[in-house]
Amino acid sequence: MENYNIDEIRSDFPILERQVWGKPLVYLDNTATSMTPRCVVDAIENVYYHHKANVHRGVHTLSQEATDMQETTRERVRQFINARSTEEIIFTRGTTEAINLVAASYGQLLENGDEIIVTTMEHHANIVPWQLLGRNKRIILRVVPINADGEIDRIAYSSLFNDRTKLVAMCHVSNVLGTVNPIKELIAEAHQNGVPVLIDGAQAVSHIKVDVQDLDADFYAFSAHKMYGPTGIGVLYGKKYLLEMMPPYQGGGEMIGTVSFNNTTWADLPFKFEAGTPDFVGIAALRQAIDYMESIGVERIAAHEHDLLQYATEQMMTIPGMRIFGTSASKCAVISFLVGNAHHYDMGMLLDKLGIAVRTGHHCAQPLMHSLGIEGTVRASFAAYNTRQEIDAFIAALRRVAAMLQ
Ligand code: ALA
Repeated sequence: MENYNIDEIRSDFPILERQVWGKPLVYLDNTATSMTPRCVVDAIENVYYHHKANVHRGVHTLSQEATDMQETTRERVRQFINARSTEEIIFTRGTTEAINLVAASYGQLLENGDEIIVTTMEHHANIVPWQLLGRNKRIILRVVPINADGEIDRIAYSSLFNDRTKLVAMCHVSNVLGTVNPIKELIAEAHQNGVPVLIDGAQAVSHIKVDVQDLDADFYAFSAHKMYGPTGIGVLYGKKYLLEMMPPYQGGGEMIGTVSFNNTTWADLPFKFEAGTPDFVGIAALRQAIDYMESIGVERIAAHEHDLLQYATEQMMTIPGMRIFGTSASKCAVISFLVGNAHHYDMGMLLDKLGIAVRTGHHCAQPLMHSLGIEGTVRASFAAYNTRQEIDAFIAALRRVAAMLQ
């Protein structure tokens, strides 16, 4: 791609110079976590060395600086996803905690017999929190099937709404199939039925420009570590009117207005949902991750990854016995596959010996595996810094491993 300076991008990621088993590392497990550029690590170091103090709790200079850094990131996140207000941006530990927050809090507003629509391609993080709700009351999960290309069955989706439907919870991009769901249309349909929608955006934000107002998403969850950011930080976007009607998720410092043994009141948004000392160091560094991604351009990264996706897919299809799961025309750079009868773990371990890092197994999506009639897959996923040369190394290693295991 013109003006896409891959060498410069790669030089921002020291870990890419590593060797594994004496071979140059080819890191193709970006869906699990992406690598971290030097500027983000520098930002973490900068807080620890120069500004570390607890946030929103002190009048002293360091505390003011740390608080400013956290709240500057909140504003940066607001811009990044085009939320209306920073009141709608809640920091969590990751996508999983963000969804658990909604389940634990919005879930308290649900009643016996209420229904939640999910899809077959959900990650466990968007299934199990809703099942946990059912420990205290009877909440029914309605599951949208997928077609042979790994796309949502729109007719089935439409048929699942009824008077008891209280939420749709679905991924923007499947972590296994790579399918990009047409969430704008699916959200509009849910809204026509009076139902709010939670989007698991973990696999989307580093590949697709997200505008929560344009999408009209009611909740949108994502993690920093999958977008070149620090681990342990996530974001829950929620529409203000929903967050206002929801009870707190956890109790503790900072989420209160006043506390007495008889009556405690809650802080205003977003602090009502941020009990305890947050990972303010990671939050400060999340701003650098967003700046970094946007300095390259999310759309340009996506175009680069799409080129790699096509290049890899074409070559993989020439390997005898190759089965790729997820063939939607609208797909992110994730390729899940099996070859002949080779076991996915064996393939992953042998690929590792050749320097290729891929994920194997059920990818935290066992119901999807059941629907595909398999136990697991090998999964290669690409990021801003991967190259065609790396795809060549991957394909050569794959041919070798596939031949060994046939
Ligand atoms: N959800 C992450 C993945 O798909 C961990 O690998």
